[in-house]
Amino acid sequence: MNAETPQGAAGSQGRLVIRTIAMPCDTNARGDIFGGWLMSQLDLGGAVLAQQLANGRVTTVAVEKLDFIAPVKVGDTVTCFARLLSRGRTSMRLGLEAWATRHGEITTKQVARGIYIYVAIDAEGRPAPVPESARAEEI
Ligand SMILES: CC(C)(COP(=O)(O)OP(=O)(O)OC[C@H]1O[C@@H](n2cnc3c(N)ncnc32)[C@H](O)[C@@H]1OP(=O)(O)O)[C@@H](O)C(=O)NCCC(=O)NCCS
Repeated sequence: MNAETPQGAAGSQGRLVIRTIAMPCDTNARGDIFGGWLMSQLDLGGAVLAQQLANGRVTTVAVEKLDFIAPVKVGDTVTCFARLLSRGRTSMRLGLEAWATRHGEITTKQVARGIYIYVAIDAEGRPAPVPESARAEEI
């Protein structure tokens, strides 16, 4: 996979689930974007896809893996991509990627990737079966 591509994140894997701008309120003590903010964007993006696949509510049960590849700066446009890697009876294992486009630049760089696990839940918050229609995507 390309680490840096022309704008549009052509090397990304998965569906576009979130696009946002990193703001000054999300910085760490050094002035770069706080890793927890990026982690939560990935979590939100994964939830967008997981809810579609589950056709209902989901909750995050685990973060299997998370790599921060490059810093995110204030003003970067951050785009998250998600895809279903595998599923169980009630759980879904999603591959997530975040890519950043620096303000005024044309290249887009991968800044994080991870594997998050979501569980489909019913109205009482109990695990619920994931529909058969949710299939892992070959890329
Ligand atoms: C997610 C939750 C509903 C699961 O309830 P549970 O009683 O543990 O249910 P189960 O043991 O039947 O597990 C449900 C599924 O999650 C999977 N799972 C549970 N814990 C897991 C873990 N740590 N890692 C990976 N998968 C896990 C199980 O393997 C099972 O998958 P399957 O049905 O596809 O085989 C419950 O743990 C919960 O509400 N957790 C809090 C979630 C939350 O608040 N998230 C936001 C954090 S701020």
